[in-house]
Amino acid sequence: MLLAIESSCDESSAAVIREGRILANVVSSQTKLHALYGGVVPELATREHLRNIPMVVRLALTQAGIRPDQLEAIAATQGPGLPNALMTGLKFAQGLAFALDRPFFGIHHHEAHLYSPWIQGDPPAARFDRFVSNLSLIVSGGHTLLVQVPRLLEHSILGGTVDDAAGECFDKVAKLIGLPYPGGPELDRLAAQGNPQAFPFPRPMLKDPGFEFSFSGLKTSVRYFLEKHPELRTPGAAQNDLCASVQAAIVEVLVAKTIRAAEFAGVSCITASGGVTCNRGLRKSLAMACSSRRIQLLLAEPSLCTDNAGMIGILAERKWSTGAPSTPIDSEALPHWKLGESF
Ligand code: KG4
Ligand code: ZN
Repeated sequence: MLLAIESSCDESSAAVIREGRILANVVSSQTKLHALYGGVVPELATREHLRNIPMVVRLALTQAGIRPDQLEAIAATQGPGLPNALMTGLKFAQGLAFALDRPFFGIHHHEAHLYSPWIQGDPPAARFDRFVSNLSLIVSGGHTLLVQVPRLLEHSILGGTVDDAAGECFDKVAKLIGLPYPGGPELDRLAAQGNPQAFPFPRPMLKDPGFEFSFSGLKTSVRYFLEKHPELRTPGAAQNDLCASVQAAIVEVLVAKTIRAAEFAGVSCITASGGVTCNRGLRKSLAMACSSRRIQLLLAEPSLCTDNAGMIGILAERKWSTGAPSTPIDSEALPHWKLGESF
């Protein structure tokens, strides 16, 4: 029985895991608060985590029907993320592990995203028995990564973004258009009603042979386009077309590079995770591209795409059960921790 805590950005979350199954996964989102400012305000996120973490932990334990003394291990996101936000969940978890005299596991946030597509079913459970060597796309608010995963808990990065992350691009473009925060889901909603071929936006680095992404140029071209067409800031059919066209540009680059990376890695399985994997355009395009090439595709469940402690706990339990060493109880938050880097 393991308790996991996630607090790297603006979601306070706690989960209880037993034998690969998520018994409870409570997420308290701060979206409404940060929406007032058009983006995450780190100081407010820290304050909210301090207020919410005891609550989400208590609720997760109640939902799982267990007492704190029944916990056998504790885990928390150790990095990367907002420094003080990370610290709130990490120190709570380490304090609990100390008080209960249980092992503590500090988890890499993106590594947890990376394995989240293997959490399937209802109640959600890790299906690592189905694991095959794969190429993984991680697309979130802070990162865009292509990762080769030859074996469980073994991975190497093939490429990433040289500037903005895919989620950041969705959010910034949505803000330019005047959509409410968080922009990604809202842009997705409007894009579903628009024509993706209406406006030809650039596909940055699409023809580039490497596995790097760049999204800041796309954002700039939308800004110039909006200066010429300010009427597109008004809701309506043309604005839907704009959203669909921008989404199509982002999705085309993500899908093309993911397929190319899978071919390079010589694998016939692709997985995708992270908040942007909620995007319906991306899910559909990846499904089409994979089915025409007979590539198996595993997409994280939408509820496990965005930040949650369930994915942190599943990875922590896997590490714990395979004999990975626990993390020192006094270790610090690692806001800039790179995937694959040990400390
Ligand atoms: O993984 P996540 O919850 O947090 C990070 O680790 O960053 O990802 C959040 C990101 C945000 O940029 C949000 O706008 C984006 O995921 N996102 C979406 C959609 N849902 C969430 N982007 C596009 N379409 C969506 N449906
Ligand atoms: Zn995340």
